[in-house]
Amino acid sequence: MTLFVLNGPNLNLLGTREPDTYGTETLSDIEDDLRTRFPETEWAFHQESGEGALVDHLHTAHRASADGVVFNPGGYTHTSVALRDAVAAIDPPVVEVHLSNVHGREDFRRTSRIAPVCVGQISGLGPAGYHLAVRYFREGGQAAG
Ligand code: DQA
Repeated sequence: MTLFVLNGPNLNLLGTREPDTYGTETLSDIEDDLRTRFPETEWAFHQESGEGALVDHLHTAHRASADGVVFNPGGYTHTSVALRDAVAAIDPPVVEVHLSNVHGREDFRRTSRIAPVCVGQISGLGPAGYHLAVRYFREGGQAAG
């Protein structure tokens, strides 16, 4: 099984970035943990600050016939039509993940432009959100509809 794990802007700063909100694990910690927990998975991990590079990785996941994409679009969640269109355009199912509970923060974070075209959204569970998204794919990824 091939899974892409895509992280958007500022997530490279995890560990030191607003630790009260995002915790103290670094992005490398999260990625290493996924490798350890799910050793039989083929991984493509990418963190990008730019929207276009994230669009390109979504297209690559499609061309590679990936089995799924775990996607934390960071701040683009709330603004990006281009990322929404890319998620809608590709075959691999996408789970949107947020470390923080975007529904319990500022009003502008409550809206995701991307979640409506994902199979689901996990928000507020910290790094466990990434594990759960991978478990969803590993267990067959049946969407609830
Ligand atoms: C985030 C939530 C977003 O609102 C924010 O812009 C981020 C991180 C999260 O993982 O909680 O960069 O996606």
